[in-house]
Parts: sequence; structure tokens; C-alpha cells
Amino acid sequence: MFESDIYVQRRELLKKELQGGIVLFLGNGESPMNYADNPYSFRQDSTFLYYFGLDTPGLAAIMDIDEDLEIFYGYDYTVDDIVWMGPQLSLQERAERVGIKKSAPEENLTNAVTSALNRGRLVHVLPPYRDEHRIKIASLLHLNIDTAEHYVSEPLIKAVVAQRSVKSAEEIGEIEKAIDITYEMHTFAMQHARPGMLEREISGKMAGIAAAYGSSISFPIIFSVHGETLHNHYHGNVMQAGDLVVNDSGAESLLHYAGDITRTIPIGGHFSKRQRDIYEIVLAAQKNAINAIRPGIAYRDIHLQSARDMADGLKQIGLMRGDIKEAVAVGAHALFFPHGLGHMLGLDVHDMENLGENVVGYDATIQRSSQFGLKSLRLAKALQPGYVLTVEPGLYFIPALIEKWQSDKKFVEFINYDNLKDYMDFGGIRIEDDVLVTQNGSRVLGKPIPKTVDNVEALASA
Ligand code: GLY
Ligand code: MN
Ligand code: MN
Repeated sequence: MFESDIYVQRRELLKKELQGGIVLFLGNGESPMNYADNPYSFRQDSTFLYYFGLDTPGLAAIMDIDEDLEIFYGYDYTVDDIVWMGPQLSLQERAERVGIKKSAPEENLTNAVTSALNRGRLVHVLPPYRDEHRIKIASLLHLNIDTAEHYVSEPLIKAVVAQRSVKSAEEIGEIEKAIDITYEMHTFAMQHARPGMLEREISGKMAGIAAAYGSSISFPIIFSVHGETLHNHYHGNVMQAGDLVVNDSGAESLLHYAGDITRTIPIGGHFSKRQRDIYEIVLAAQKNAINAIRPGIAYRDIHLQSARDMADGLKQIGLMRGDIKEAVAVGAHALFFPHGLGHMLGLDVHDMENLGENVVGYDATIQRSSQFGLKSLRLAKALQPGYVLTVEPGLYFIPALIEKWQSDKKFVEFINYDNLKDYMDFGGIRIEDDVLVTQNGSRVLGKPIPKTVDNVEALASA
């Protein structure tokens, strides 16, 4: 946990942004795996962590804007619980650790909410993403499951997103700690992924590295010789000499800030000429994108710059043709680059995605496109100092998509389908770093993880 003052200040700022009423915050509960006492590892809700810091299940809080106070609700463990769990702080002690003076048993939450409703007070809640929260909100606010979103508050969402988007020095420090663990995972993978091994022999050990630091992975590991499948969570393939493995993985810091890094590893230690050509195209686009990051620039413009950089590179090697600016404007490059350049990063790997992708990544000046590829861009709006985001261009050869576009004769003026025949087994390449927007540019966060051809080959062939 940070110092309690940090949580006090964060809550003060939020209270100033809201006009009145009460805000109901629900912390996460345990999530049973196969029966109640055998849960998945606990993950607190990120907004709850941001304002209340406490990393234990079964907590809730009410922030009363008009009365300028907060009350913590939860359960005081009994000696029966302590027999199984060991010594526990009382609820009041836990509340005081984050600067909250008042606590009450969880049973009192129903009365508190009902009394606010009866007095016609405004109630603000965030959108639930777990069904048990949907049920709880419905029950507390006298709704049914289908109308549980009734009190979801746009002013609250916007205020939380504005606040969480700009990272403080201590948050940036946490993200760097997460990336430093992620460094260990990625360099381990480069040093140990060898021909004849199963992907899971490496992905499992990477998860173990995060665990050995007291942490956990920040999202399910993508570690696959089929990097062309964007979110591929299967780890059962045998890695063969000459394969490329896309390793998109990251750890959380102990305070649950995320790292999110991708590197692409040549199995056997060396990129072939064809692999190196594509790798250099992606790497040049990634570096160019990082160099373009500064306050005020729309991330969509950097996404499109990367699309043009990579399309231009593909033209040089005969896979695309024609006017590249035009090709990117109509979305022809998305055959090879079907995802967005990046997203916000913080307490969530796709930061605040539960509050709404468009609220986080778009604003009144930039609407989401419906074009294939561009529609998957999670962050498009103008950047501000303190934003932390990922820069993750990639090029992929997705046989099903190539075959479909070819049979539809899609963008034949821009895509050289004949030359693509040799690339059907290529897989994919993605390179991803986590970047802070500074006052006049950007800074790549964390200990640098090898990414040039020479540096990756040096580890992969040692
Ligand atoms: N780790 C998933 C992503 O890069 O968005
Ligand atoms: Mn990633
Ligand atoms: Mn990412």
C-alpha cells in the first residue's frame, strides 16, 4: 500500500469533481474455482485499490459527497476465522490505514443505501463487470438484474478516468517495478526457449518468475509459435528451429500495477533473412512511434503513422504496392496489422477498460472508426503528460484472413497476393513497450529488454 495520505488526496480530488450524492464502491470478493473455499487467486478491483488501497476481499465503501465523509463496510473476522486464516486486523484498523475514520458491519450497507434513496439523494455507481456485483447492486438499489446499470454514473466514470489516466510519480515507480519483473520473464524466455521444447515449458516458468517475486502475471500469457493468432493462450506446441515465438507477457507490481511487454524470439537463435526483414520493419515503426509521442498529439495519428511505416516496409519487400497513404486510408494494411497501436496501462493492463473503452481512449473530438483494424484501436485521443501507454505494432500473416481477402479480391491494387503465398506459415511479429508521456516527449519505462535483432539473437543463441 502507498502512504495513507495518497488515498486521502485521491478521494478528496474525486469528491471535488462530483456535484453531490453518494458514491457506492464495491471491492471484489473471492471468486470460487470449483467450490467456495477453493478460490482463484484474489484480485481486488482496480478502482477500489486506487481510492482505498486495501487488498482484501469483501469490502465496500460509501463516499458521501455532501457530508464530505467516507464509511468503510466489511466483515470483522471472528476467532473461528482466525483459526484458519491467522491474525487479522479489525475492520476499523483497516479503514484507518487508508485514512478513513468510520467503519460499519457489511449488514449496515443496505440501510445506508436505502436511506439515501428514500431521501431522494443521487447515487453513483461504476459499471459492474462481475455478476455478483450486478446482483449486489440490484439488491442494494432495489433493482432487478436487467436494470442493475440504472445508477451507473457518467460523471463518476469520467471523473475516475480523468484522475486515473494521469499517473503520479509513485504510480510510475510501481509500473517500472512491474516491468523490471517482466524483464526477468522475457530474458528468461529468450535464454531458455529452445528447439524441441513445448511452449508451456517456458510460459509456465515465466508465470513462476512473477510468483517468485511475490507478484503474479498481469494478464494470461501469450507465448506461441502461432503469433498470428493475436490473443493465443494455447501453450502446447513444440517449438521448432526456425519458428518465431511471440511472447506477450507481463507481471504486476506488488501494488498491482501492470507491465505489458512483447518480444518476438527466433527459435534456434537466429532470424532468417525473411524474418529479419519483417522484424526490422516492425521495430522501425515501433521506434518511430515512440519518438512521435508527446503531449497534444492524437494517438490515432501515431497509429496511422505506424500503419504507413509498416505498409511502406511491406511495399519494399513486394508484399504491398501502390500509393501507401491511400492504402492505409482505406485500411488495406490491416490485413497485416489488424489491431491497434496500444492502450493505456496502469492498475489494469488495458487500463480502466471496465469503465468503457471509449471513455478511456476517445473523446468528443475523436470518434471510434468502424474500419477493420482501426476499429480495434483502444487509445485514439490526444495524449497528456502522465499518461502511460503501450506501443505495440505488429505484422501478422493470418492464413484464413489472407485467403478470404484474396477470394474477395479485396484491395488487389495494394496487396500482392501472389507474393504472399510464401508467407502462409510465417506467423507473426509484435514488439511492445510501455511508455510514459512526459512534459515534452516520452520515456520508455523499466529496464530495457533486448529488442534489436543482434541483442535478441545474442540471448536466444547463447
Ligand atoms: N497483452 C495484451 C495486449 O498487449 O494488449
Ligand atoms: Mn501485450
Ligand atoms: Mn498491450
